[in-house]
Amino acid sequence: MGIRENSWFFLYFLLICFSLNTHVSIGANDTISAGQSISGNQTIISDGGNFKLGFFTPGKSQNHYIGIWYNKVSIQTVVWVANRDRPLSDPSSAELKIMDGNLVLLNQSKFPIWSTNLNSSTSNSIEAALLDDGNLVLRDGTNSSAPVWESLDHPTHTWLPGGKLGLDKRTNKTQRLTAWRSEEDPAPGIFSLELDPNGTSQYFILWNGSENYWTSGVWNGHIFSLVPEMRINYIYNFSYITNENENYFTYSVYDNSILSRFIMDLSGQVKQLSWLENAHEWNLFWAQPRQQCEVHALCGAFGRCNEKALPFCECMQGFGERSSKEWNLSDWSGGCVRKTPLQCGNITLVNGEKDGFLLSPKMRLPVNPQSLAVGRSEECELACLNNCSCTAYSYGSDGCSIWVEDLLNLQQFSDDESDGNDLYIRLAASEFSSSKKGTATWVIVGTVAGAVALLGFLLVLIWGWQRRRPVGTSKAVEGSLVPFGYRDLQSATKNFSEKLGGGGFGSVFKGTLPDSTVIAVKKLEGFSQGEKQFRTEVSTIGTIQHVNLVRLRGFCSEGAKRLLVYDYMPNGSLDSHLFHQNDSSILDWKMRYQIALGIARGLTYLHEKCRDCIIHCDIKPENILLDAELCPKVADFGLAKLIGREFSRVLTTMRGTRGYLAPEWISGVAITAKADVYSYGMMLFELISGRRNSEQSEVGKVGFYPTWAANKLKEGEDVLSILDQRLEGDANVEELTRACRVACWCIQDEETHRLSMGQVVQILEGVLEVNPPPIPRTLQVLVDNQEDIIFYTESSSNQSSKPQSSASASAASSKNKSHTSSTSSKS
Ligand SMILES: *[C@@H]1O[C@H](CO)[C@@H](O)[C@H](O)[C@H]1NC(C)=O
Ligand SMILES: *[C@@H]1O[C@H](CO)[C@@H](O)[C@H](O)[C@H]1NC(C)=O
Ligand SMILES: *[C@@H]1O[C@H](CO)[C@@H](O)[C@H](O)[C@H]1NC(C)=O
Ligand SMILES: *[C@@H]1O[C@H](CO)[C@@H](O)[C@H](O)[C@H]1NC(C)=O
Ligand SMILES: *[C@@H]1O[C@H](CO)[C@@H](O)[C@H](O)[C@H]1NC(C)=O
Ligand SMILES: *[C@@H]1O[C@H](CO)[C@@H](O)[C@H](O)[C@H]1NC(C)=O
Ligand SMILES: *[C@@H]1O[C@H](CO)[C@@H](O)[C@H](O)[C@H]1NC(C)=O
Ligand SMILES: *[C@@H]1O[C@H](CO)[C@@H](O)[C@H](O)[C@H]1NC(C)=O
Ligand SMILES: *[C@@H]1O[C@H](CO)[C@@H](O)[C@H](O)[C@H]1NC(C)=O
Ligand SMILES: *[C@@H]1O[C@H](CO)[C@@H](O)[C@H](O)[C@H]1NC(C)=O
Ligand SMILES: *[C@@H]1O[C@H](CO)[C@@H](O)[C@H](O)[C@H]1NC(C)=O
Ligand SMILES: *[C@@H]1O[C@H](CO)[C@@H](O)[C@H](O)[C@H]1NC(C)=O
Repeated sequence: MGIRENSWFFLYFLLICFSLNTHVSIGANDTISAGQSISGNQTIISDGGNFKLGFFTPGKSQNHYIGIWYNKVSIQTVVWVANRDRPLSDPSSAELKIMDGNLVLLNQSKFPIWSTNLNSSTSNSIEAALLDDGNLVLRDGTNSSAPVWESLDHPTHTWLPGGKLGLDKRTNKTQRLTAWRSEEDPAPGIFSLELDPNGTSQYFILWNGSENYWTSGVWNGHIFSLVPEMRINYIYNFSYITNENENYFTYSVYDNSILSRFIMDLSGQVKQLSWLENAHEWNLFWAQPRQQCEVHALCGAFGRCNEKALPFCECMQGFGERSSKEWNLSDWSGGCVRKTPLQCGNITLVNGEKDGFLLSPKMRLPVNPQSLAVGRSEECELACLNNCSCTAYSYGSDGCSIWVEDLLNLQQFSDDESDGNDLYIRLAASEFSSSKKGTATWVIVGTVAGAVALLGFLLVLIWGWQRRRPVGTSKAVEGSLVPFGYRDLQSATKNFSEKLGGGGFGSVFKGTLPDSTVIAVKKLEGFSQGEKQFRTEVSTIGTIQHVNLVRLRGFCSEGAKRLLVYDYMPNGSLDSHLFHQNDSSILDWKMRYQIALGIARGLTYLHEKCRDCIIHCDIKPENILLDAELCPKVADFGLAKLIGREFSRVLTTMRGTRGYLAPEWISGVAITAKADVYSYGMMLFELISGRRNSEQSEVGKVGFYPTWAANKLKEGEDVLSILDQRLEGDANVEELTRACRVACWCIQDEETHRLSMGQVVQILEGVLEVNPPPIPRTLQVLVDNQEDIIFYTESSSNQSSKPQSSASASAASSKNKSHTSSTSSKS
């Protein structure tokens, strides 16, 4: 018997050796044909070298999985996993091979643990190939038409360009993206993204396959109503396909060199990321839900989420992580467990060892409360205490609420947020004897009478303690910044009655200080910073002073209110001077040139001269103010840092801003000072023409002005025809030529081709010469009064560039980055 077994083993060994030998003979590197297999560290690489397939181990895990990852990205980024929840311990004797017309993964004992599960005929010519878009296809080698199976149709947690995410109406099955369970475990986790199974064109994120905590809103043909970031633009082409068999979304990237992906993340958020080759990192373009703590039950039972802490999850006091291993791998779903079991219902209970309640202030209350009709806080507490399944209570303006069983969705708000309620969480009595100092106050409830007395006493103490805490301490901020009280600003602005303007980040009001200085007060909205950070940023902005920058005089930070106080600029903003119809007071050329130069100097200061480089991010005529002498002053600098992470979202969705946004805002790559240069260039065109770039000309022949002007410039004749017609040719031709060239150089697609603001100043001053600019290949404009994005491309012979719809937008995508222009016409 023993010999027999040994000889079987020997035969088996030979077989393995034989099969190892066949690996060497894999024909093309991107396919697994019948008779071939992959094991150990063997991989296949797609034809163009973009993707690789093979075994991988996530993080420090000992488990092995078959996956596909980017071949050219330095951080291993897995986009698809075959055996998500059936890991292998030893890949060297496992095999991925074609068997009976399927692609099958066999474990050490030749047992199939994953398969494409097709009932197709057992054709001998079936082969698996990894395509250059990351799609693993199973196809009939003799029939190149349609693959019989595609990994893009079976996404795991990543949605790649070309992939579908939809609903099969015949089976009522949806394709889901399911997050990994943890950083080291690709098994399907608790969060998933899918198309509405009821057939509408919106996505849901589900918790545990049931609880729907986020929706994209329906697709209107161009955007999802609640995710304006996810839209058709000149980088992505989204489409919603609906037919009798299926509904699905798919998207593509016009420029294949952009690596971009959507993922359903461990964090319960759907994210869009793109690869930054220079920085060697994935750049998060956007995430939904925007706030991490909006994710349902992120921190599990008795875990609390804190938007301002890292990690976001923490156990409530008296509780410990159920699994610190999972917790360390960012899988918080297991939540927390009591350190000491409750005594409630214990028959052997020793007198005086009843449970107590721990106060947690400023909490978002958990889901599924039960309301009790009791009139006082003490009764509410008693009701909870007397029911052994009650774990917490809260008594507030809505009366008494109690919770039974696990507490989910707890969120901790911070002191400077106005939200939050007091929540009392039940803990075993022994938890209190060892209680440490903290922000929470605790109460042991003995007898009812004692409880009431003690509670009253403590309430007085708490009240007294909170009263003693100074409210809105106005520490002096360095520099000459004045900290204003909200009341003072309210009276200075006559209760914010005279509005000077408004935008995505707040409205501006005119005011007068007691010493009769006129000021402009900006009430900020949508900032995400706490008090301390706000003060730090404001004090930095306060130190920046330049003749072409609006001076910040002071600020106000009280409770949730944030206001900035600026010098008042009597001549308003540049747009009102440039775009009005009244010909009598139009800015003459000399003035315009000085304004262009002044703005450039202000921006140069921001970009190069102050301690930390400040990118303005929102250069447009509305943000250029003019003082009594019409000297330009750049307003609102530093706002990007003050507003924080919400800034780019507001900016990219705000009306009246889009026409000035550089392409990198939409593609999601990192924003540099060159984004300001682009906006400056767009604005400079408007200074020259005296009208908005986005407007059609009255004559209707010019089309998109920058495109037309750039073409005129290239022809090198009649520069004056580019000029605002209201000036009737009254301009210095040399200055005009310089300004036009600068504008055109500023709006180049490639950041590296654009000028720096310092160079702009030197050119406008006449110190530096500038060559004729190439015409930017893609001059795209976001037309404000339409939701979609209209593309303008330079036309070859006739100058009547017409806006083209997004359907033909591929013409606008510059695959070749050279700036050769096909314009060769002579008029
Ligand atoms: C497979 O890829 C390796 C390295 O990527 C290369 O050296 C080899 O020539 C390729 N083999 C075939 C058959 O293409
Ligand atoms: C692959 O595995 C073999 C045997 O285990 C080893 O000799 C070889 O160096 C490995 N190759 C790579 C690229 O790791
Ligand atoms: C292979 O998978 C089967 C079924 O899951 C299992 O019973 C067997 O133990 C596995 N073999 C090895 C070596 O893991
Ligand atoms: C394959 O065939 C079996 C039985 O013939 C059937 O139960 C199963 O649903 C089929 N699977 C597919 C994917 O068609
Ligand atoms: C190729 O495959 C398609 C779809 O699977 C099928 O309709 C067609 O008949 C096949 N052609 C040949 C020559 O086998
Ligand atoms: C799918 O769902 C729709 C509506 O929810 C229903 O009318 C239809 O019968 C379902 N089809 C199948 C195959 O279950
Ligand atoms: C889908 O439709 C059913 C019945 O029409 C409804 O009960 C359910 O709430 C709907 N689901 C969603 C997610 O809207
Ligand atoms: C998820 O749902 C399943 C039933 O669908 C349930 O058994 C499981 O306990 C749920 N998981 C959590 C964490 O609630
Ligand atoms: C989790 O991380 C903490 C702190 O880094 C460490 O002390 C603890 O040992 C880790 N737990 C596990 C199970 O790895
Ligand atoms: C009941 O209380 C006693 C004394 O505190 C303790 O030893 C025992 O474990 C408790 N029983 C339960 C079920 O909690
Ligand atoms: C405790 O409260 C829950 C929810 O109100 C209720 O269902 C349960 O019957 C109560 N238990 C007792 C012992 O009163
Ligand atoms: C966008 O995608 C759809 C569907 O894939 C396609 O029909 C359309 O031609 C694409 N548009 C462009 C401009 O590539």
